Amino acid sequence: MKNNTDPTQQPIGIFDSGVGGLSVLRAICDLLPDEAVVYVADQAHIPYGPRQQSQIRDFSFGITDFLLAQGARLIVVACNTASAAALHDLRARYPNVPFVGMEPALKPAASVTKAGRVGVLATPTTFSGDLYHTLVDRFGKGITIFQNTCPGLVEAIEHGEVGSPGTRAILTEAMVPMLDGGVDTIVLGCTHYPFVIPLIQEITGPEVVTIDPAPAIARQTQRLLEERGWLNCDKQKNELQFFTSGDEKTLEVLLPRLLGKSSCCQNAIKISGLIWQGHQLVATCARQGTNQV
Ligand code: DGL
Repeated sequence: MKNNTDPTQQPIGIFDSGVGGLSVLRAICDLLPDEAVVYVADQAHIPYGPRQQSQIRDFSFGITDFLLAQGARLIVVACNTASAAALHDLRARYPNVPFVGMEPALKPAASVTKAGRVGVLATPTTFSGDLYHTLVDRFGKGITIFQNTCPGLVEAIEHGEVGSPGTRAILTEAMVPMLDGGVDTIVLGCTHYPFVIPLIQEITGPEVVTIDPAPAIARQTQRLLEERGWLNCDKQKNELQFFTSGDEKTLEVLLPRLLGKSSCCQNAIKISGLIWQGHQLVATCARQGTNQV
């Protein structure tokens, strides 16, 4: 993949601190099933949420260098926290690379809410970033916004606990104040959270709308590729290559649980390890062959 200079044949790069970006990958596979993808999960450093922005920025630079070395032609920062900390600097540092970033979906929420009350769930770094404050200034006028972090939720999802009593307790604690405040719309401002949408909806009941931004991110990815004439029109199932700086075995077990029956699962899948050497990510030998999840 990496020596091919035809951009239609080069992969899309996607990264997150862990498995959260799989919620975005799932939407991209559904919309663009012919695209090859290289996915980096920086599980050695998870969670990103409570970390300093400068540190997350350094991780994002290292991961981007690695993805570009794998031939990535476009990079999806499938992490709200990394987008908040690094998207601006990534675009400045790699001016020829198209980036798709995440932001809490306040714009759609503002048009969906009838009560004028919106809840946002995200990590501390996402809430403290300029990106979030700009969104609140632009789309929060006339709307009451309730925001909350969900301490421990990212870690629970990384352990595959998408329906456990502990995960329910974390979500209940985070959402009860916003539900008591009368929200009718909840924005998922962290890419891990879509994996607990069934639990969220059990807690909110059917009247509250939950906004998962992943389909919009997939459409934006398609738009950027189309604009450049970079869409792969080969109509063949392409390879998904996963790299983790954490434990490959754990990722191997989690992938089928989180990706479920999405169209990603029809592709050939490889999982390999990564190690950080200073600010650089280096691939370890692939410990697994091609898998089907
Ligand atoms: N999935 C990430 C996000 O969208 C980050 C979770 C974390 O590592 O704290 O914010």
